[in-house]
Amino acid sequence: MARLPFFDLNNIPGSLGETLRARPPLNLYRMLPNAPEVAEGFLALGGAILRQSSLTPALRELVILRVGALCEAHYEIHQHRRVARGAGVPDAKIEAALTDPANAVFDERERAVLAFTDAVVRQVKAPQPLYEALAAHCTSQEQMEVIVTIGFYMLVSRLLENTELEVEGDGAAPIEIERQAVAPAPASVDPLRQLFAPAMGKAKPSGRLAGRRVLIVGGGQRRTVDEQPPVGNGRAMTVLFAREGASIACADMDLASAEESVAKARSEGGTAVALQADVSRPEEITRLVREAAQALGGLDGLVLNVGIGNDSRFGTETAEAWDAVMDVNLRAHMLCAQEAAKVMDEGGSIVFVSSTASISPLTGIPAYECSKAALAALCRSTAYATHARGLRANVIAPGLIDTPLGRDASRNRPARSARPLPFGRQGTGWEVAHAAQFLLSSEASYVNGQVLIADGGLSISTVRQPAAA
Ligand SMILES: NC(=O)c1ccc[n+]([C@@H]2O[C@H](COP(=O)([O-])OP(=O)(O)OC[C@H]3O[C@@H](n4cnc5c(N)ncnc54)[C@H](O)[C@@H]3O)[C@@H](O)[C@H]2O)c1
Repeated sequence: MARLPFFDLNNIPGSLGETLRARPPLNLYRMLPNAPEVAEGFLALGGAILRQSSLTPALRELVILRVGALCEAHYEIHQHRRVARGAGVPDAKIEAALTDPANAVFDERERAVLAFTDAVVRQVKAPQPLYEALAAHCTSQEQMEVIVTIGFYMLVSRLLENTELEVEGDGAAPIEIERQAVAPAPASVDPLRQLFAPAMGKAKPSGRLAGRRVLIVGGGQRRTVDEQPPVGNGRAMTVLFAREGASIACADMDLASAEESVAKARSEGGTAVALQADVSRPEEITRLVREAAQALGGLDGLVLNVGIGNDSRFGTETAEAWDAVMDVNLRAHMLCAQEAAKVMDEGGSIVFVSSTASISPLTGIPAYECSKAALAALCRSTAYATHARGLRANVIAPGLIDTPLGRDASRNRPARSARPLPFGRQGTGWEVAHAAQFLLSSEASYVNGQVLIADGGLSISTVRQPAAA
């Protein structure tokens, strides 16, 4: 029994509650609200060490395991054995990090880092020869990160041991995984795989879209019954593109939702403006593009993220229901692209957001699937018509993504996410945003008229068993 009480994370208000609920229900997280003011800083530093430091995950985990062993912190060792395996550290190295840091399984660099770790934990200041060995193998940034990692996990060890925090049952998720998957991962898949910082919206900005002026149509996100909705594709794009240096016009029929996206972008120092338009109405499209170009001083990028479905299956389709989907998912894309191309400067890029429903009948919604399939042809027409002016047009086709729309789709059709998924999880809005960012950026300057499928490999049956020989 732990010495400090645990909290029900559903009752923790504010950003601390949001942060904690987005993580697996580990005992450590349930205990942190005892000190809410320091908990946020604690989580931020821990997150930076785990997800943003330049140390390779394998080296970082060896350091953490060594600190855990020296401090006899059983909870830490238990969690990080699993994280280390997920980072590809062989069992022999994991065991040696716990018992014998000079073991021959380690290479010279690992041995230098582990010897330094021992000295810092035991003596506070490592002797000069050990420091010089560290410096011979690590950049200044890595040296600093090794020291901070040692210090942080000494703090964690002391916190865990002095509160007598118990290890969760074996089914508990490893410490590093954020709550993402609706469907449980198949036992054979390690859910840590591919869930890197960009997939969680935590990549370091690198100015990829510096100076670009981008209109995102559908830059808000739908409102659903979820109390803690995941990020939608359009919101992730608004935040990511602004973070990467673009000025954003974020348009949505739901102005308040667009404003929320813009507020998030601005809170990080980004430049963004919210615009209202219902693009199923052609007359609003001309006005929208004009307003966006005025607000941004021109346009270099357009992302058409709007997309809706309907309740009609084959056999129950009506002309009205069919047209309503086509008006938003296809006609609006055509008219927006046409208007934007008129004002776009050389180097401009248009991205249409389709879906793997364009190549699979599994949604059971013919209008959705057909509208999404037609975007590939529209992209080619657009690329063909505009390439002479130096513009490009491409499609991104996401697979199963954990967005508000995706959650609604799974509620309507539980089979959607109940099957095995690539990497044991759905994709994130951030992963869609990163793919769209590539197509928008000048890094994709020779990519034109193409469809980029972002589905983790679902469409090539990655999660099926290979046929017996
Ligand atoms: N979530 C998935 O699994 C998934 C998979 C493949 C493709 N997609 C596509 O990604 C896109 C965005 O998906 P999301 O999951 O972020 O959805 P979302 O519903 O949260 O976001 C779409 C946004 O478009 C806006 N919108 C809808 N109709 C509009 C109109 N007529 N005028 C202006 N704005 C309008 C909505 O208000 C909403 O803010 C869609 O095109 C969707 O088809 C999603």
